[in-house]
Amino acid sequence: MSKRETQNSKRRAFSRRAARKRGGGEWRKEVERVLITEEQISRRIRILAREIERDFRGRELVVVSLLNGTVMFLADLIRHLNLPLRLDFMGVSSYGLGTESGDLVFTKELRLDVRGRDLLLVDDILDTGKTMSRVLPKIRALKPRRIKICVLLDKPSRRVEKIRADYVGFEIPDYFVVGYGLDFAERYRNLPFVGVLHPHIYKQACQQICPK
Ligand code: IMP
Ligand code: MG
Repeated sequence: MSKRETQNSKRRAFSRRAARKRGGGEWRKEVERVLITEEQISRRIRILAREIERDFRGRELVVVSLLNGTVMFLADLIRHLNLPLRLDFMGVSSYGLGTESGDLVFTKELRLDVRGRDLLLVDDILDTGKTMSRVLPKIRALKPRRIKICVLLDKPSRRVEKIRADYVGFEIPDYFVVGYGLDFAERYRNLPFVGVLHPHIYKQACQQICPK
């Protein structure tokens, strides 16, 4: 083996070990493939942050994040926002273990007064738009000056409500994805990348819990 081949094979072994360390190894049979890598996410977030800074400079910004899927995205986004801001959370949860947003329940209300403020609403993914169409009237009723929507992922092909996001990390096809905050049955949120969940995982779960 030449010196270069040895170096390349060492490098590959190192990244395999690093992926295992970050959780990639444990989940390999459940996550069909990586759709968006850690590096791609990090690069895109820096660009989004610059756009948001430009649009909100000089304003009283309140960032409102929907729990729980936004944890990683939010943390990375706001650390790159070079703007004074305040942060609040709204708890939204859908019943059941399925891959559809079912009946929504609000588990936490806003605490900050957003009247007259510029509000950036952050969510993990815009899918059918049903969640946003329930959340937006609630927030509008609090009379912010303006509301802009920022999502990490957008699946436009699944939309049933007329909602669009102002800032989108990545537009993706109709795959059920997990990782980087996104879950299936509350699992996989800690994966550092966005991956496509193997359909046998949710089909299996559905056979056990879905009504016949
Ligand atoms: P919507 O109400 O259909 O727009 O869906 C929004 C919510 O459904 C998101 O905040 C997620 O919690 C969940 N969701 C939609 N698509 C996916 C996905 O591919 N993976 C994980 N969660 C998803
Ligand atoms: Mg979810």
